[in-house]
Amino acid sequence: MKILREAKLCLLVVLGAATQLVPFSSDGPVKWLLFVGEFHPLFVHFPLGLWAATVLILWVGFRSPALVIEPWLRGGTVASFWSGILAFLTGLVLYLSGTYGDEILLHMYAAWVFLLSLFIFEYVLEKGVGMKKMGWLALAVSGVLGYAGHLGGVITHGDFLESLPWEVQAAVETPVKGTVLPEHEDSRSVFEAAVYPILDDKCLLCHADRRARAGLTMTTESAILKGGVSGAAILAGEAEASMMIQRIQLPEEDPLHMPMTEPFVTPDEEAFLIWWINEGLNKKVYEIPVQFASFIEPMTE
Ligand code: HEC
Repeated sequence: MKILREAKLCLLVVLGAATQLVPFSSDGPVKWLLFVGEFHPLFVHFPLGLWAATVLILWVGFRSPALVIEPWLRGGTVASFWSGILAFLTGLVLYLSGTYGDEILLHMYAAWVFLLSLFIFEYVLEKGVGMKKMGWLALAVSGVLGYAGHLGGVITHGDFLESLPWEVQAAVETPVKGTVLPEHEDSRSVFEAAVYPILDDKCLLCHADRRARAGLTMTTESAILKGGVSGAAILAGEAEASMMIQRIQLPEEDPLHMPMTEPFVTPDEEAFLIWWINEGLNKKVYEIPVQFASFIEPMTE
């Protein structure tokens, strides 16, 4: 038993250290990592379910003190721990694929604390303290699990707290800057009026907010300049040296070609994006050369 406990502790330390690894930036392993990571959303449900069952056992123990629940409690805890390890490993693989933004870090740390709390729970259970203390401890473990799970949910589904009725109402009531313009006067930036719509069609599926693949968000000029795991996606004035254009120009069958899936960028759009990087950064929409005027999206409202 003691050896097993020490082995578990070692495993926790190793996993904790692994969270400090830097995600891959080369493209070779990314596909494999993403493949293994596909199992994460499935695996995370095991520790959730098993821990819920363990808490239920504890609750039954409170109701019927005559029952011997310790072996069941221990079984549930051990099962939660190992399934948690499995979920953690697949999650770690997703993190290492480098296709998620920083929001994954807190989720990963919280998941690790959950594993640690399960370890402590099992340890205290073996020491044999009173049921009441176990109850409080179980509450703490559940709290950590709930928090880690919530952060995970935010990554996959967005923050449900933001969709609470009063939050939605507040967002609607917050006036959006610059929408109150005379119709004939278009003061939008080149990016907003013409570049963004192209990116929205072709790139944002995988490069926005919570799905910032390779850590690259493409919703603003500054985010694109900042770039992802391999650094700046565009270099002002140097379109041909900009990773964004280089990726677009790769042969379609190249695994690094962007976008990864259709619809692809048309030659006209490519020419316009090249102009934008070379000359159009920070410019206003009326400075777009007339041959690209068709990319200007009509103003709404
Ligand atoms: C279907 C998903 C998907 C779409 C759509 C997509 N990308 Fe990507 N992109 C990825 C993934 C996954 C990676 C990370 C793997 C890689 O580097 O190939 C990536 C990486 C990149 C990188 C490298 C970032 C870095 O720092 O390593 C650039 C640049 C890029 N994409 C640009 C684009 C552009 C421009 C578009 C639209 C024209 C686009 N992507 C559309 C999935 C996508």
